[in-house]
Amino acid sequence: MNLTQRPRRLRRTPAVRNLVRETSLAVDDLIYPLFVTEGSQRREPIDSMPGQFRFSVDELVRECASIRALGIPAVNLFGYAADKDDLATGAYDPNGLIQRAVRALKAEVPELCIQTDIALDPYTNHGHDGLVVDGEIVNDETLEVLGKMALSHAEAGVDWVAPSDMMDGRVGAIRQQLDQAGYTQVGILAYSAKYASCFYGPFRGALDSAPKKGDKKTYQMDPANSREALREIALDIDQGADVVMVKPALAYLDIIARARATFDVPIAAYNVSGEYGMILAAAEKGWVDRDQAIDEVLHAIKRSGADMILTYFAVEVAQRLASK
Ligand code: PBG
Repeated sequence: MNLTQRPRRLRRTPAVRNLVRETSLAVDDLIYPLFVTEGSQRREPIDSMPGQFRFSVDELVRECASIRALGIPAVNLFGYAADKDDLATGAYDPNGLIQRAVRALKAEVPELCIQTDIALDPYTNHGHDGLVVDGEIVNDETLEVLGKMALSHAEAGVDWVAPSDMMDGRVGAIRQQLDQAGYTQVGILAYSAKYASCFYGPFRGALDSAPKKGDKKTYQMDPANSREALREIALDIDQGADVVMVKPALAYLDIIARARATFDVPIAAYNVSGEYGMILAAAEKGWVDRDQAIDEVLHAIKRSGADMILTYFAVEVAQRLASK
């Protein structure tokens, strides 16, 4: 055969394949989401997320020291709130769980970029991300609480706050609160295109934060939409987001790619709890190879255009990259 073009020439050996590989995954791309709980010396396994734990603050500090030693640049914290009420007052308590965790981490592992989730759901007894008035998740009243929450994290020393609530105008409201108080250096990682997804199920088990009534479809996005995602991202950039996020990642790779082609800000993708669970379950059944499945999906997320990935696989991937 007289074939001038033979793409297989570039797949012949591992060395050649390494030379022509277009996308690489590095430890610097990873953000590890972590769950924090009250008490001490606690490391509670999370039933819905095998291999993940809720850490008391002392254990969290220990865990983060080894995370940093692996070279992972950042962690993203979620609080397992013991006290929930209808106004989410625990969310902005200056001595609350997350505020104490941030203070401890900045004292003990200062190089690690500490990020915190900003949303009311773990702190409300109804499980919604915003305040509820007459059965409605109210927007503007919620912004005030989100601003207070972000400010209390900034006072504790957080590097980035990560609003995940999908209220309109929250990025601007948080930016304004932070700037007024002099926290101009605290960054905002905005969950800009966050979909109303079934893939958050295991996470809601971890924090006992599932909505008691209704669903999140009046604030999180319809999975059928993509133009709307670009609008949400543009709004967040306008309001001062430093990094924008698409969430979940795997069913929304087209959104990541469109965002990458449209905007020049860094893009994060959240490889969420249900995506974690699917690989665990299929690997346990022997249907896929766990390590290969993880590598394949994380490369796909990078390839689609994400600069950084929040993933529960961060630690095992970092360990594997280090032993290569
Ligand atoms: C809270 C929040 C959720 C996740 C991150 N922040 C759950 C939700 O919106 O219901 C999901 C993360 C995951 O599934 O791994 N607003």
